[in-house]
Amino acid sequence: MSAPKILILNGPNLNLLGTREPTVYGQQTLQDVESLCREEAARHGLDVEFVQSNHEGDLIDALHRARLEAAGVVFNPGAYTHTSIALADAVSGIELPVVEVHISNVHAREAFRHHSFISPVAAAVFIGAGVNGYRLGIAQLAHLFEAAGAAGRPAGADERDA
Ligand code: DQA
Repeated sequence: MSAPKILILNGPNLNLLGTREPTVYGQQTLQDVESLCREEAARHGLDVEFVQSNHEGDLIDALHRARLEAAGVVFNPGAYTHTSIALADAVSGIELPVVEVHISNVHAREAFRHHSFISPVAAAVFIGAGVNGYRLGIAQLAHLFEAAGAAGRPAGADERDA
């Protein structure tokens, strides 16, 4: 059986990691984040699809594809976190565990970053741990898969794949 796949999904402006506000987001690039995600996923026997988009609809499409192709998602929605009911609906609609990650501590920043439309529908939330939050998100997904007991196949996956 092939390894279960997880989607690592990054929203707007995260393509600029490393050069964008390094005092807030650190020095590591999105490519560095991809490498650390692949390394952490491999430790848990998981395959990775890594996607970044600056467009809300593309993020929704990626979540819909994940419904059919992946066992879970680590999602940094960027600023759409604070604005997008459509992304929250997509997260609810795909019925996969979606772990929300923010590199910075959004609660120590502007008030408009304190509310997340995604958190109420997320399986877990990691905030302010820097890019290590992605590792924590992957480890949490692996933990959920193990707890579900079926090699990363969430309830309902069999029917969908049939
Ligand atoms: C972010 C926090 C958001 O408020 C911001 O708009 C981002 C990045 C983070 O990872 O800390 O683009 O999601």
